[in-house]
Amino acid sequence: MRNNRFFGREDFLSSLRTEFEKSLITADNPRLVSVIIHGLGGFGKSSIAVEFMYRHLQTFPVILFFYADRQDKLDIQFVQLARLLGFASDDTEIVKSREMTLYWIAHLGNCPSLRFKEIEMLIMIDVNWLIIFDNADDVSLLTQYWPSSAHGSIIITSRNSFTGKGSFAGQGIKLVPFDENEGAEFLLSFLDIFPDISPADKDAAKLISKQFDGLALGLCQAGHFMRNKACLPTKFLDLYPQNCGEIQRLKIPGYTKSVADVWEMSLSILPQDSRDFLDLLAVLDPDSIPIKLFQQYGHNSPFSAFLQDTMRYMKATEALVDQSLIEINLRDETISLHRFFQDSTFQQLKGKKERFEEVFFGITTMINSAIPQDDYLSMKHHDIWDAVETFLAHAEILLGRCSEGIPPLATNALLDLFCKIAG
Ligand SMILES: Nc1ncnc2c1ncn2[C@@H]1O[C@H](COP(=O)(O)OP(=O)(O)OP(=O)(O)O)[C@@H](O)[C@H]1O
Ligand SMILES: [Mg+2]
Repeated sequence: MRNNRFFGREDFLSSLRTEFEKSLITADNPRLVSVIIHGLGGFGKSSIAVEFMYRHLQTFPVILFFYADRQDKLDIQFVQLARLLGFASDDTEIVKSREMTLYWIAHLGNCPSLRFKEIEMLIMIDVNWLIIFDNADDVSLLTQYWPSSAHGSIIITSRNSFTGKGSFAGQGIKLVPFDENEGAEFLLSFLDIFPDISPADKDAAKLISKQFDGLALGLCQAGHFMRNKACLPTKFLDLYPQNCGEIQRLKIPGYTKSVADVWEMSLSILPQDSRDFLDLLAVLDPDSIPIKLFQQYGHNSPFSAFLQDTMRYMKATEALVDQSLIEINLRDETISLHRFFQDSTFQQLKGKKERFEEVFFGITTMINSAIPQDDYLSMKHHDIWDAVETFLAHAEILLGRCSEGIPPLATNALLDLFCKIAG
């Protein structure tokens, strides 16, 4: 989803534009151009890729955005795309679906067997296309999903630094944090609701920017905190050190301590229902959590009281959105949250055994109810497949979340769930 508050980064966007001009069909000798945007967690790599995509919708009639942090997620997305394009049916194998999709990409412009009306138009003309592989921290995962096209544009975002050698990407763009002034301006852009910002507050904004090392994720979080609590930068500086005691032990690889600090501050002002909700989200795949999981299947979980009360549920999500801890995607009715917020929430949750068990049990029960019961003797019913696909990545993350032992309370529900999936 486009970030309405996208700030700065014009130099990076223009470098991307320059690189990708070489891939366009209007270029002298159009090529396949791939660029990896790399840098630490929370610097704003994905944000730049998404902004680039929205700015160039006219240039690229075909844009494919893939979450590329895990192989199973890439597989599901390729399968779904193959089905959407009419290449694959419900029982086409993953490998076949992937090959068909890659074939389609490689032949965009002259593929004769396309069904969809919109796609048929594409066979008339040669088209520019853009693929984004987002959060591909393990770039080697992309081997199987790399199109062998003569021309086209590919953006990879990754925390892995670009070495040049043995890399998929032809070019690397190393993202750096905002400098002190940019960071301060970014922060102040959240405070446009205040009629006047005093020189002292402008100075404080610079100090905060410095304290956060210009890290977009932390500054964005601080900006939302100030905006929602009507707290100007000078006051924020007063508050900031008081809330950071707990954080030292929360070490999330790839992120700076300042992000953890401001995350703790955001948490401290959340109502209990929002914290509960964040805990539930912490054991799922953070990229696209179906809202229906909570609204339709939350009723027989330990969290049913707030999930069933529409007003409470709305308030809980509103507070999380206000603090920019989650994003709600209304088009496909999903929730997503940044990996950092999820990891931090999970680290805390893991430390509270009973609470973890309750959350784990709650989510397992919900996913279990979301996948209809099948009788294992009959052939699989196709309508179950959609549900399995929707929740497969979530079920796998859930399983990974109990690496230190499955909570006894949830053992049966988890067994039942994986039997359904495996069946
Ligand atoms: N240029 C920007 N303008 C506005 N907000 C930004 C910008 N860059 C980053 N942000 C904010 O910071 C958050 C983190 O950025 P983003 O997810 O792009 O970082 P990332 O480098 O991809 O992190 P990770 O490596 O963890 O995936 C975003 O959700 C967004 O709210
Ligand atoms: Mg990212």
